[in-house]
Parts: sequence; structure tokens; C-alpha cells
Amino acid sequence: MNTGHKTLSVKQNTRDIQTAALAAAWMARLRGKSGLDVKVARAYPGGGWAAYRIAVAAAGNPADQIERFEAAGVILQPKQLEFAAWARRVDDAPHIEGETGTPEIGMGGAKGPGKSFALFAVAAVDDCQRFAGLKVLYLRKTGKRAQEQIEDLVGAVLDQVPHVYTKGRLRFPNGSQIIIGHFNNEKEALNYAGLEYDEIIIEEATTLTEKAHKALRQSARTSKEGWRPRIYNSTNPLGVGHKFYKKRFIDHERKHKAVEDRTRKFIFATVDDNNFVNPDYRGNLDELTGVEKRAYRDGDWEVSAGAYFDAWMYDLHVTDSFVPPRQWETWASMDYGFNHWNMIHLHAQNGDGVIYTFAELALRKHYPAEVVPLLRVMLSLYERTVGELREVRAGNDVFNKTGAAEKSVAEQYRALGVEIKPAITDAGSRVLGAHHMSALLGNPERAILPRWFVTRNCARLIETMPVLEHDPHNPEDVLKIDCDEHGEGGDDAYDCARYGLLRDKKKPITAGVVKYA
Ligand SMILES: Nc1ncnc2c1ncn2[C@@H]1O[C@H](COP(=O)(O)OP(=O)(O)OP(=O)(O)O)[C@@H](O)[C@H]1O
Ligand SMILES: [Mg+2]
Repeated sequence: MNTGHKTLSVKQNTRDIQTAALAAAWMARLRGKSGLDVKVARAYPGGGWAAYRIAVAAAGNPADQIERFEAAGVILQPKQLEFAAWARRVDDAPHIEGETGTPEIGMGGAKGPGKSFALFAVAAVDDCQRFAGLKVLYLRKTGKRAQEQIEDLVGAVLDQVPHVYTKGRLRFPNGSQIIIGHFNNEKEALNYAGLEYDEIIIEEATTLTEKAHKALRQSARTSKEGWRPRIYNSTNPLGVGHKFYKKRFIDHERKHKAVEDRTRKFIFATVDDNNFVNPDYRGNLDELTGVEKRAYRDGDWEVSAGAYFDAWMYDLHVTDSFVPPRQWETWASMDYGFNHWNMIHLHAQNGDGVIYTFAELALRKHYPAEVVPLLRVMLSLYERTVGELREVRAGNDVFNKTGAAEKSVAEQYRALGVEIKPAITDAGSRVLGAHHMSALLGNPERAILPRWFVTRNCARLIETMPVLEHDPHNPEDVLKIDCDEHGEGGDDAYDCARYGLLRDKKKPITAGVVKYA
């Protein structure tokens, strides 16, 4: 079998395919049924062949499909059988409410259930063999080990199936082929749109935006009579595509669970559905906490909008308003905005290093000359003056002169008696600030007490904290969001609080972690 990466001539190709076919048949004879016995025992521990046959009957796989898999030495597990059965069902299923266009089947929800194996096995062992000349696109995000993962998959699934694999393309003797495509970003994914494929497999579909997914769907079309194009997706919650995918597949599935014949199906599966996975992989998943645990271990689509501050709990972190004792160190932070919100927070720290964000000023379309008097009034309500503030921190933008302005915003504040100091905004500080705030929120699972509280009157901050999401392009960071034209949403309150909380890059976490008793 040729697995080299060179391009082959057609003649050479045919010879290689014939040799590969002979080799595979020989190997299959050598292994015989005993190879299948081992797999059945592994996939159906305790139940063996009987349990396997029952699972096949429950999933409703056609006999010729199962024969193909067994001849190829592939034993599918129950959720994989269900996927395979639906892949046959959509050959002629009708559209139901909410469905149009190309049939789509998704599988997953969590890491490790054998999604990649199932999608690839159905495409390569069933679809490509039952229909000659099929052209399949197998698309996945480029990763460090992308090439190796494909080779592992080809090795695991096609061990006994004649094929020739050269880099980027897998060919079968009947002329069917699987083209392996990679993308790094949306633009690269869109390179595959506009072409024609009889079948498209999208790995980790939630790494694509709705726009890219839609464009790829348009490319699943055929001129071959008797073949209905389709899309198979593997997915995990979280990622740029989370919201659209949940709506399109998960919500649709919940609504139409009982309908046996339709063209859009989602099969929920977790690592517990895969007996082939090694125990260490399962162990790694068990070690996850918070949002990641709910998403990747449990396949819970509700987690996500991917809340960043999953430790944030209203009942724990929001306290009644109060006037902090005057001896507590007090300071302010500001996220400047004119059309967006101009946010100011007041913070105070007690002797134990616990911080309270105790006042908030949120204004739109206000000039510094209007903001400063209001800031003075707010401070007086808390028995303080501008001069008593330890510092006022704000983002870099206040130090820039914009447009025709003669003075920067900071200079205008200075003229009004408020000296502004730059917040920490250099490269990496967004992530550092987010980590710092997570740490300050504490972690009940690890018995770490909160070191930061927000008083009830800081309405915008309280509203913002739970809706902040992971940035799909940099999950360590918080996704930036702008407010709408009515001023709803937006992350200005978060930026403002972050400027106030991350004041020292060298020792961002307040010393001395207090544990629960
Ligand atoms: N039916 C099967 N027969 C043999 N091995 C299988 C089977 N199903 C899954 N496996 C093996 O289990 C492991 C995990 O499967 P796979 O990579 O398909 O999972 P996944 O759901 O795609 O995981 P991830 O979320 O990490 O992408 C692989 O080593 C795969 O070969
Ligand atoms: Mg996978």
C-alpha cells in the first residue's frame, strides 16, 4: 500500500490500488472473524455479539450497511450505529418544519465519544463504497497534529479496506474519493465554498462562524443521479459557532425528537459512549472544572454562551450598598467613552486586602466638564473627595489627542482637578486582568474565598459580569462586545472594573489566599 506523499500517475494509481486491494483481502483473511470478536468484546463489554446485534436493531441500520462495516473490520458502538442509521435515513427523508436544503447530521456535544471515527467510517466504509465516483470533502481546522490525526483515523478505519492515501486525498478502487481539506481561519474555510462536493464532513463545526458554515452548505450539491448530498458535522459546545449551531441543531433536535424521518438530526454523545477511549483521556476530561467541564465532559450546550467568569454568583459576589470606612484605601477607574458608555467605578480595599467596587457612574454623550461635577457629587455621597482618591486609572485612549481636540481627555480632566494615571493596557494585560478577576472571584470547588465584591448599586457591572464570554480566537481572553444603539450590552463596565482591579502587573493576585474553613 502506498502511503507516500508523492503525486501518482493514473496508471501507477491503478496498480497501487490493485496491490492495496490484494493486500487488504489477505490481511482480512488472516485476521478472520477473531479480529471482530476482539472489537465486539471491547465495544460491548459484558454483552458481546448479542448486545451488538440488539444495538444494531435499535438503531435500525440496514443489513447491507452492517455487512460492509463488518467486512471492513469495523464494529460501531451504539451512538455511532445511530449516526450510521441516520446517514442512510436521509437518503430519502422528507423535510419537516424548520428544515430546508441539504440533509445534515451532527454528532457530539462533548469530547471523545468517537465522533471522528463515526463520521469518517460512515463516509469511507459505507457511502464511498455504496456509491461509485463519490467526491467527499473532509474538512478540519489545522492544528499541530492535524496530519497525524488524519493518518491515525485512516489507519484505524481503513485497515482492511482497499485504498490509496496520498497527502490530501484518499482514493478507492470504485473511483470514490475523500479530499482532505484544512483551514486556519474563516477565509481559508471559504476557499472550499463554491466548489461541488457530494458530501461534506465538517470536523468541530462550532469552530466555524455561521457565515462560513452556510457557505459550505451551499457547496454540498451534486449532478450525480441517485445520490443525495449531505453534510456530517462533529461538534463540541463553545467556539464561534456555538450559538448558531445550538439553535440549528440542538434546539431543533429537542423540538422534533420523536420524528423518525427528517433531514436534520443531532446525536448527543459523550466520552461515556466510547469504550475504545483510553482511561487517561477520560481522566483528563474528569479533571476539567467549570465551563470546560460542562462543555467538554458533559456536552452541556446550556453552558455556553461560554461564560468567562463562571465563578461569578450574584448571591455571593453582590452585597448591599454601604459607605466604606474612611481609612480603607479608595481609588477610581474609568473606561472612557462618548458614544459608548463612559464608565467610572469607585473601589475600596479593607485591611485584609478584600476589595469592594462600591459605586458606579455610567454616562453617555457627556463631556469631561459634565462628568467631573457628577463624580464629585458621587464621591460626596460616600464621604470622600477627589483629592482623597489614591489614584484614578483609565485606558490609554484618554491620553491621545483625537481629531480637532486641542487637549487629550486626560488633560481636560486635569484642568478640572482630576489627575488620571494610565491603567495597565500593554500586550497581554487583557488576559492578565481577566485571570486576575477570575482569581479574585474565588473558587468554591477549590475552597478559595472571594476577594472581590460588588455592591448592588453598580448595576451595569453586575449585569455585564455573567454575560461575558470566552473569545473563541483566544479562549484565555474575554470576548469584546459593543453596546447596541440603545446602549444595551457592551463590555465597558467590565473594562472599567478591570482597569481598577489590575493595578500591579508583578503581583496581580492579592497576597494571602483565604480558604473556606
Ligand atoms: N468503533 C470504534 N472502533 C475502534 N476504535 C474506535 C471506535 N470508536 C472510536 N474509536 C477510537 O476511540 C478514540 C477516540 O475516538 P475519536 O477520535 O473518533 O473521538 P472524538 O469524539 O472525535 O474525540 P475528540 O473530541 O477528541 O475529537 C480513537 O482512538 C478512535 O480510534
Ligand atoms: Mg474528533
